[in-house]
Amino acid sequence: MLGNFTYCNPTKLYFGKDALDGLNKELPKYGKNVLLVYGGGSIKKNGIYDKVVAILKANGKEIFEDAGVMPNPTVQKLYEGIERARKAKADLILAVGGGSVCDYAKAVSVSVNCEEDPWEKYFIRFEEPACETLPVGCVLTMVGTGSEMNGGSVITNREAKLKIGHVFADEKIFPRFSVLDPEFTYTLPKYQMVAGFYDIMSHIMEQYFSGEDDSTSDYIMEGLMRSLVHSSRIAVKNPTDYEARSNIMWTATWALNTLVAKGKDTDWEVHMLGQAVGALTDATHGMTLAAVSLPYYRHIMPYGLAKFKRFAENVWDVSPDGKTDEQVAEEGLRAMEGWMKELGLVMNISDLGANEGMLDDLVNATLVMTGGYKVLTKEEIGQIFKESL
Ligand code: NZQ
Ligand code: ZN
Repeated sequence: MLGNFTYCNPTKLYFGKDALDGLNKELPKYGKNVLLVYGGGSIKKNGIYDKVVAILKANGKEIFEDAGVMPNPTVQKLYEGIERARKAKADLILAVGGGSVCDYAKAVSVSVNCEEDPWEKYFIRFEEPACETLPVGCVLTMVGTGSEMNGGSVITNREAKLKIGHVFADEKIFPRFSVLDPEFTYTLPKYQMVAGFYDIMSHIMEQYFSGEDDSTSDYIMEGLMRSLVHSSRIAVKNPTDYEARSNIMWTATWALNTLVAKGKDTDWEVHMLGQAVGALTDATHGMTLAAVSLPYYRHIMPYGLAKFKRFAENVWDVSPDGKTDEQVAEEGLRAMEGWMKELGLVMNISDLGANEGMLDDLVNATLVMTGGYKVLTKEEIGQIFKESL
């Protein structure tokens, strides 16, 4: 492991069937006014809303609601949330939902006392907050993004046709606490569930496919990927298998809580390609990643062949006997492709609403990253989107 780094993760986690009780320990630490942020209503249907409100009331909190956070939260909604948080004089933002709700809560947190335009400051200029921020807590209902234990926040600007993530470096933007009850994810539609599974895989691969040194992080990631593949095969057949769903929830958190990135360059080009698709189609995040991944990885494989061979052998149990390195590496990607199809992931961006006429906009919306095995040219990005259609 050759990189230098600082590591600190301040998020306290409550995990398992009684995790929501953790709210009783956390709420007394904050003032009276709680901005309760949630999405389109799934938490009202599955009863999580009632449980959370009962605990908030039992702890003497004044509840101010900010509902309707959409998947891929927009900057327009963010402006509304900032106003709500200001009016409520919120002491704590409690996000109850998936990555979109958690990301949005962090964006409100850094914007509520900020006089500048948050889109320009945080998502175009990637600055850190210079103002007071509000503490955020999460009750997670969808697994995949890792937002429950990181400083990431992704916001979509539909007018500008851009979807941009800012990974805040300041640890005070990380959720102060997160409640992770695997059973809260049981009511997810299968489409969302498997999209989240692939999001986890993609987070790990984005960090794994970088660097050439011998790194403990790579060994940890191989274990996480093996666990994910194993448990996802069980969960897709039986979504209420607690053991599988709890393993997946834990893997998702560790896939993107900054630990496995330590000492590594990390790539993130698949996410840039996926976010461009998301910006133009509003498609589900994990599906956008699934649809661009194989063309991307097949494109960069020659530049990181040794790592792709290792991936094939250590994650997919491909035997190297009597084969060239290229054959082993390709067999690994074919094994992954088989697993993706088994889960029922979307394998083409045309199935997400993208078309040939969007290619220029897609290329323009894609940021070029420099930490992977190949820095893409605009032409290569166009080619990868074409192959993903
Ligand atoms: O809005 P409701 O009604 O709650 O429905 C949601 C939503 O439609 C539904 N859902 C969530 N929990 C449910 C449920 N339905 C039934 N039962 C439950 N228990 O699922 C839908 C999707 O939710 P969403 O929060 O959008 O999904 P996800 O967790 O995948 O979050 C996606 C967002 O996170 C960003 C993505 O770009 C996207 O904007 N990301 C954030 C990252 C981070 N913070 O580090 C990294 C990721 O790579 C990602 O970019
Ligand atoms: Zn992701």
